[in-house]
Amino acid sequence: MEIFIDSASITEIEKWLKMGILDGVTTNPSIMLKDDVLDMEAGAKEIATLINPRPLSVEVTTNDLEEMVTQAREFARWAPNIVIKIPQINQDGTPCYGVIKQLESEGIKVNATVALSLGQVILAAKAGATYVSIFAGRIGDEGGNPAEVIRNAVEWLERWNYKSRVIVGSVRTVADVLDAAVAGAHIITIPPAQIDKMADHKYSRETVKQFISDAEKAIEMMKKER
Ligand code: E4P
Repeated sequence: MEIFIDSASITEIEKWLKMGILDGVTTNPSIMLKDDVLDMEAGAKEIATLINPRPLSVEVTTNDLEEMVTQAREFARWAPNIVIKIPQINQDGTPCYGVIKQLESEGIKVNATVALSLGQVILAAKAGATYVSIFAGRIGDEGGNPAEVIRNAVEWLERWNYKSRVIVGSVRTVADVLDAAVAGAHIITIPPAQIDKMADHKYSRETVKQFISDAEKAIEMMKKER
């Protein structure tokens, strides 16, 4: 299983990259705004260079399908490791699978984003998407069962040998991460705050504190014995 970070913060990306736990980065326009990346091109180029050859997902910012193709071609030229996020449907409900098919046929990798159902995952896989992003938290918002959608999606893709890999996003708690991992997600994209929480444990801290204090006691005792 791979771990991506769901962030546009250079500080956070660099921090976790150095620790060896990152396989890629996902962003969207809301994340960029939150992380103060107002110039999308400059921000994406900086992240892509930092994490190269790992993939960076950058999302199109238009509701028009033709414009999505134009933007995707432009974004893909920014760096060789940029993957283009195309939504399953636009805000009017028009399916975007033709855009996915077109871009993949040109060799541009697509992350078919905002998937909230198994049906959408199936259609994105048929269209040839390299990645399909299942939004766990948002499935839960509507009373759905994210783990069931993830498990069924991964099983279906593997049963029929589709190349698409499931990225689980919209992760809000450490429990969401673990549920997605157990459900078989190929990749989970995690916000920095949740990675911090995954690493931390009160009793680990206390245990480390005890070991250091005992090591210090031993040194003191050794000095006295000399
Ligand atoms: C995933 O790629 C998305 O960037 C992200 O996880 C969206 O989730 P949210 O908007 O529900 O937080």
